[in-house]
Amino acid sequence: MQNKSEPIIIVDNVHKSYLMGKEAVPALRGVSLEIYPGDFVCLMGPSGSGKTTLLNIIGGLDEAGRGHVIVDEDNLVALSEDELASLRLHKMGFIFQSYNLLASFTAQENVESPMVLAKVGRGERQDRAKKLLDKVGLGDRSHHYPSELSGGQQQRVAIARALANDPSILIADEMTGDLDSETGFAIMELATQLNQDGMTIVYVTHDPRMAEFSEKVIQIRDGKIVNNL
Ligand SMILES: Nc1ncnc2c1ncn2[C@@H]1O[C@H](COP(=O)(O)OP(=O)(O)O)[C@@H](O)[C@H]1O
Ligand SMILES: [Mg+2]
Repeated sequence: MQNKSEPIIIVDNVHKSYLMGKEAVPALRGVSLEIYPGDFVCLMGPSGSGKTTLLNIIGGLDEAGRGHVIVDEDNLVALSEDELASLRLHKMGFIFQSYNLLASFTAQENVESPMVLAKVGRGERQDRAKKLLDKVGLGDRSHHYPSELSGGQQQRVAIARALANDPSILIADEMTGDLDSETGFAIMELATQLNQDGMTIVYVTHDPRMAEFSEKVIQIRDGKIVNNL
């Protein structure tokens, strides 16, 4: 059980470089931060500053070159591939700029998909997907395919899908980046509501208007946190 006063995510002096040919291109240069249960944190920085790299490392999709990351008391470097996959499936929900919905699945089936992986029984899966689609305001679109939905509606489906296995953390990379500002605001209001219900949220944006929804903004430049600009 997570103690309220303990961080749910600890990033400790994380470095990461990518090899481009023979040259190492630094993406993160000693990033440390702590995120507490119930936090609503926005990570901001120009393109190429390391935001996606940091989210991917927190999500166990990529490995830190140096330093370490602890998520809900698990040190990610100590986890096997299966344990990492399980952590991603159960503890973290991911939302991306381009929604990443499965085109040949309905909204309902998209939301059910992480529950299929988690081996949730069919009845419970369908029930839960319906409730989640209601929650994001799409109860009446459950049988629509992504191509029959607007960008904002597709992002709502992606949010419902991210919530499928009841994660404690939501991680969102430019989730309003493809949306017009009014639709983006509506998505941020939904995120605010989820946070008020207790969800820990870490999101990336480079739009200051979207950052205003958060409680805390972390600024990153050239792979370093520079909050005291
Ligand atoms: N897979 C990769 N291979 C090589 N370089 C990468 C890779 N991913 C990111 N980078 C480089 O790392 C830096 C940070 O990228 P990224 O984390 O995507 O930034 P942001 O999300 O802030 O735009 C950039 O210089 C980028 O070119
Ligand atoms: Mg990015």
